[in-house]
Amino acid sequence: MYTLENIDSINIKFENFIHTLENEDLFEKTNRIDNILNSDILTGNEALGMMSLNKLSSIVKIKEKNGFCHDVIMLGSNSYLNVANNPKVKKASKEALEKFGNGMGAVSNYAGICNLHRELEKKIAKFYNCEDAIVFPSGYGTNVGVISALCNCEDIIINDSANHASIFDGCQLSGAEVKVFPHQNMKYLERILERIPDDKTGRLIITDGVFSMDGDIARLDKIVELAQKYKCRLMVDDAHGLGIVGKTGKGSSEFYNVQDKIDLNVGMLSKAPGALGGYCAANRKVIQYLRLYARTYFFSTALPASIVGGLIEVFNLFEKDKAGRKELFQKIEYLKNKLKGAGFEIGSSQSAIVPVMIYDEKKLFKLYQELRYEGVYVNIVTYPAVRRKECRLRLCVMKDLTYKQIDEACNLIIDKGKKYGII
Ligand SMILES: Cc1ncc(COP(=O)(O)O)c(C=O)c1O
Repeated sequence: MYTLENIDSINIKFENFIHTLENEDLFEKTNRIDNILNSDILTGNEALGMMSLNKLSSIVKIKEKNGFCHDVIMLGSNSYLNVANNPKVKKASKEALEKFGNGMGAVSNYAGICNLHRELEKKIAKFYNCEDAIVFPSGYGTNVGVISALCNCEDIIINDSANHASIFDGCQLSGAEVKVFPHQNMKYLERILERIPDDKTGRLIITDGVFSMDGDIARLDKIVELAQKYKCRLMVDDAHGLGIVGKTGKGSSEFYNVQDKIDLNVGMLSKAPGALGGYCAANRKVIQYLRLYARTYFFSTALPASIVGGLIEVFNLFEKDKAGRKELFQKIEYLKNKLKGAGFEIGSSQSAIVPVMIYDEKKLFKLYQELRYEGVYVNIVTYPAVRRKECRLRLCVMKDLTYKQIDEACNLIIDKGKKYGII
């Protein structure tokens, strides 16, 4: 039996469970991982996330695998502004549900959209000051669809190493040559660009706007300059920047004042917008092309109208900067100061994502488990999201948290940090 005490000696790596070993049935790896997931290492916890029993708020009731139900302070949601529970958003969503029912029943290019889908796309296009936008049924599928539609084996894609997995999956599917520069290393990026042969003209630089595991913002001022110098197209996945960063919450490109220099403005409707889906805003012809060639759009059923109706209201809030972004940032700063002051290494986040570096997987599991059982829910981050030696807790700050709750959560994190010799 695997236990917390022998976790080191058995050297558990999630990589170990991907491959079929010699003489093994295809499903044997599922038995091997089952032994781990049902061992003492994650005693009583849902190893893969949590099960909430009520709506998202700063305190959520969760049910553990062993039936234990308890309240946790929520520091694990990407719905930073909790607009999913905004009365106007819920009203719009309910009205669309009444009018169009619980699903669209077809892909967008057949019978799958209603007037609300186009209205949302127009709103997103206006938000980015672009000619048009396309809405996909998932964020993951947006990256995969956009990249694999526009790039092919004759093209080259240059990625930041910390880009989201969906970007790398899209690159792989496209068949393009892929180059990767170390996270935020602009010198290395330029070195790659310098070496691209002149006849390789299909060039795309892709970066997250806000990096999902570190919370820092891509150096878009510099990346834009390099993209122009080396004649590359530029795609920014601003999943965690939308509605949060920039002077009026328009995201990372607004933060660097380069809004008109981004060729493909990709974002997710699942983070600050609190719902589901993704989008790309760009010029009219690019969007028209994507409607035909992005296979995750062409071959996937459209979002339900209830989600779309709610999202239209979300963009109304974002446009007027009325979702409580300033209040959120005051709370982010408060939390960061507390943890940094206590001696934690928290990176250089400029968003609602705050990494708390642990660097030791055994300690990470223990910390996560104790925090959770004692009432603070955070995300546990290790392979495959980051390298194991860079494992961490990831805190996501929500506007709804009270200062008292932030104090309570930070105090517990600090106690545990001391207990395990992190600080
Ligand atoms: C940067 C980034 N891009 C894309 C995605 C995928 O979005 P979704 O969860 O909506 O499929 C995520 C979500 O984890 C993300 O963090």
